[in-house]
Amino acid sequence: MGSNKWGRTEVSFEKPRFDPGFVSALRDARHVCVLTGAGISAESGVPTFRDAQQGLWAKYDPHQLATPEAFEENPELLWRWYRWRRDLVAEANPNPGHLALAQLAELVPRLTLVTQNVDGLHQRAGSRGVIEFHGNLFDDRCYAEGCIIVHDQQAEVPVCPNCGANLRPGVVWFGEAIPENALNESFAAAADCDIFLSIGTSSFVYPAAGLADIASENRAIVAEINPNPTQHAATYDFAIAGNAGVALPKLLESIAT
Ligand code: OAD
Repeated sequence: MGSNKWGRTEVSFEKPRFDPGFVSALRDARHVCVLTGAGISAESGVPTFRDAQQGLWAKYDPHQLATPEAFEENPELLWRWYRWRRDLVAEANPNPGHLALAQLAELVPRLTLVTQNVDGLHQRAGSRGVIEFHGNLFDDRCYAEGCIIVHDQQAEVPVCPNCGANLRPGVVWFGEAIPENALNESFAAAADCDIFLSIGTSSFVYPAAGLADIASENRAIVAEINPNPTQHAATYDFAIAGNAGVALPKLLESIAT
């Protein structure tokens, strides 16, 4: 990570204010690029990826389940799992963290929001142009053709009306490529931004986790917001230890004053 004029500051959320250097940099930013992960939806009641799976699904490892191989082997099981996740997300609502990011987009000249989440909560909070790095839980795609299919089938495993192949949830599975547009737009935004915010992600999974490096290599200020500092926190310019649903509204207050 390149150093910058503020050096590397551990901004503990317990302090009543954010580092003044960070606040003024955000206030003066030309282009803010934000990467979010499951942590920003945690306060909406959506379990994060590396939290223990809940209840019925506790015995399954998502890394084993969210794969093309698992779908080919047992599409019925996959559809039950994704319907369970869809029901869970459908009952969730955007939290103050999602809403604050939608408001931040109105306060800076340009904001690019890249999310690893598939829950659609950023869009429900009012964010526009969200780049869904790992797809969307509520899209159904033809397993053979890849296109999104709108349908009203109730079958346990719906099928493509065009070619008869099984439909699959429109999310990126382990071992699958990131949608090309999402990848290109995210890389370009990370390279162009002057502030990069990594919010609610463990930053384990690449290429999403590499966006912060691209930003830093292009002289952006990089900050994370996470109650549990990630392994990258020490290399970021700022690390804000706190829950997104609390930290982001307070950050907005700081730049508005
Ligand atoms: P993880 O479950 O790996 O990490 C969630 C992060 O959110 C952790 O670092 C938590 O400390 C943090 N966190 C928890 N509560 C928070 C809160 N209230 N505010 C802010 N942060 C909070 O989820 P991701 O990093 O999103 O990929 O996982 C990335 C990818 O790994 C997922 O998109 C998925 C998974 O494999 C695919 O499905 C392809």
